[in-house]
Amino acid sequence: MLSELVKRSRALPATSKLLVLGGGYSGSVVAALLRSLGTPVLTTRRQPSNAADTLSFDSAKGLRPGLDDLKGVTHVLSTIPPDRTGEDPVLSQLMADLSTLAPQWVGYLSTTGVYGDHKGAWVSETTAATPGQERSQRRLACEDAWKQSGLPVQILRLPGIYGPGRSILTNLRDGRARRIVKPDQVFCRIHVEDIAGACLHLINTASTGERPSVVNVVDDYPAPSHELLDFAAELLDQPPLDSEDFATASAGMSAMAQSFWAENRRVSNTLLCQTLGYRLLHPDFRAGLRDCILQDAVKTTELSGQDRRSTNG
Ligand SMILES: NC(=O)c1ccc[n+]([C@@H]2O[C@H](COP(=O)([O-])OP(=O)(O)OC[C@H]3O[C@@H](n4cnc5c(N)ncnc54)[C@H](OP(=O)(O)O)[C@@H]3O)[C@@H](O)[C@H]2O)c1
Repeated sequence: MLSELVKRSRALPATSKLLVLGGGYSGSVVAALLRSLGTPVLTTRRQPSNAADTLSFDSAKGLRPGLDDLKGVTHVLSTIPPDRTGEDPVLSQLMADLSTLAPQWVGYLSTTGVYGDHKGAWVSETTAATPGQERSQRRLACEDAWKQSGLPVQILRLPGIYGPGRSILTNLRDGRARRIVKPDQVFCRIHVEDIAGACLHLINTASTGERPSVVNVVDDYPAPSHELLDFAAELLDQPPLDSEDFATASAGMSAMAQSFWAENRRVSNTLLCQTLGYRLLHPDFRAGLRDCILQDAVKTTELSGQDRRSTNG
């Protein structure tokens, strides 16, 4: 729960102001954490919004905030992926304004896909990035562009992101989950609240002079997807799904799904959790999925309360 993170996190100095470029799934949780700790936060969305702290930014439409809108920003986080041409939307449209603001810290959410396939072996930030997929090659090019921007950039490499409303529990409830088994295959993951916690922790450690240029933000426990599925079924009080073997299942998979199964690596969080001292709120999928089931239930209760109120006028 975010409230747990709020309790144990150190707030930023009073003069700080965060700009989150892309207030989507991860960006909104980072914004919520910082706001709960008293830091003003601006976010951007592609759709115009009436909220004073939500700015419009859509690189495809040339819609962007002006420098005046960004006044006072001291820290920046970009969650925006490369565009269709492989360019970074923030660097191509807002670079001059960001340089003028001269932020103390700039975070960029990237992906552990840049490591490529390691046949299940451990990789760390010192492992050379050898992306196999085209989208990961584009991502690595964006990482490089951020590093060369002259801004105080820290790249956060993320594996599969899950959390309330976006987990294997949702897929199981919707009947979309499949128990596909590929021997020795593991996946890494991170709960969205730990992305927020890690961002804040990294801002605080950077302020003391420790700012490694790349940090993996992953949990402690790479695991096969069927292990999660069995645990999720248990949480939902459902029988385990029947197994499908990968060789058969992969024939009908989309190219995107096949590309996920084509890579196998264990991503280390030693730099984040030992060297830099971040304590994960959800160290493995068991802790994370237990949290999701609680938060999903709270959301469902809130929504049905809203439905009742609107039906009663
Ligand atoms: N999902 C995963 O499992 C995963 C794994 C590893 C890395 N990542 C990467 O981590 C980052 C955060 O992931 P997420 O799941 O939180 O992403 P998300 O919910 O899709 O949020 C992405 C944000 O970027 C904004 N955006 C996209 N294209 C834009 C453009 N051309 N101009 C301006 N804004 C644009 C979106 O605007 P709107 O809010 O208006 O849609 C959204 O706010 C992304 O870069 C993602 O690729 C994701």
